[in-house]
Amino acid sequence: MPQIQALNLNLKDALPLNKEYQVHVYRGDLEHVSAPGNKWHKLKHHLQAAKVQGATHIGTFGGPFSNHLDAVAATLADQNEQAVLVVRGELQPDLTPTLQDAVKQGAELWPSTRQDYRLAMKGEVVKQITHRYPNIYWVPEGGGGALGAKGCSDWAKQIATNAVGYDAWTLAAGTGTTAAGFLASQSCQNLHVFSALKGAQQQASEIVEMAKMLNPACQNQPMVFHSDCHQGGYAKHSPELISFLHKFAQLNPDVTLDPVYTCKSLYAIYQAMLAGRWPHQKTLLIHTGGMQGWRGYADESNPFSNMSTDDKMSF
Ligand SMILES: Cc1ncc(COP(=O)(O)O)c(C=O)c1O
Repeated sequence: MPQIQALNLNLKDALPLNKEYQVHVYRGDLEHVSAPGNKWHKLKHHLQAAKVQGATHIGTFGGPFSNHLDAVAATLADQNEQAVLVVRGELQPDLTPTLQDAVKQGAELWPSTRQDYRLAMKGEVVKQITHRYPNIYWVPEGGGGALGAKGCSDWAKQIATNAVGYDAWTLAAGTGTTAAGFLASQSCQNLHVFSALKGAQQQASEIVEMAKMLNPACQNQPMVFHSDCHQGGYAKHSPELISFLHKFAQLNPDVTLDPVYTCKSLYAIYQAMLAGRWPHQKTLLIHTGGMQGWRGYADESNPFSNMSTDDKMSF
């Protein structure tokens, strides 16, 4: 399957889009079986640093459906270092599918109260784990930090070798690490970043700061930050978004979108195009993966649930 594909956004029952608009998707979701999308790129320099340290364990943080925890557990399944996952909140007697997979892959789970979790490296759970495994390497939540952003900067440069002639690239943000790396790479003319979080207005300046740390020369690189496309909040769906995704899935049977990130950026772009407010003709949407996240939703609310069993197995 080609790495870059054209999307059909002329949805049934909707106004036809201006013919000038073209949206292509970079299928990051098809890269790396164990750590698709941005996951491998955020992890790679951390894993190298852990090797240099001679770490026996790799610790990190995430929620019970976290794409990041899923990727860390799967990536370390056949490595010498053991994954130690600090999970936000109480562990339910029935583990989520994400955590069940992590355990099958040999990861150790440590529940953390929300309060302790917020303290990150200063939390009690981290102290206990570090006491037990003194040679542990800690990866920040979501694979963040400067090393995570550096990996994403490498990724953007790699994408740019094939993605020629786009007016804009678009990307979803959680921690903003991926966006910082892309901005630092100076690989695209205009970068639009869509936050999946509610109330993330402040994040734009953090992304720019992180990008400048990686590459001081990137200060004048344009980034447009969108903080109003969360559809009610992180992991929430509006009925309009679900309706859009159902129609999208019918017209684009080869493309599946995740439930939290890329789906919301695409919907925001689509709405701006319908309103004639999208300023670019040729847009590249970066698919950052996260398909396993659908396991946190009922099958009937997943517009892509009729995909083949083989596809589901590759989550
Ligand atoms: C699938 C997916 N896309 C996008 C993001 C956002 O990436 P970042 O946290 O680097 O902003 C995440 C979070 O890591 C994610 O899991």
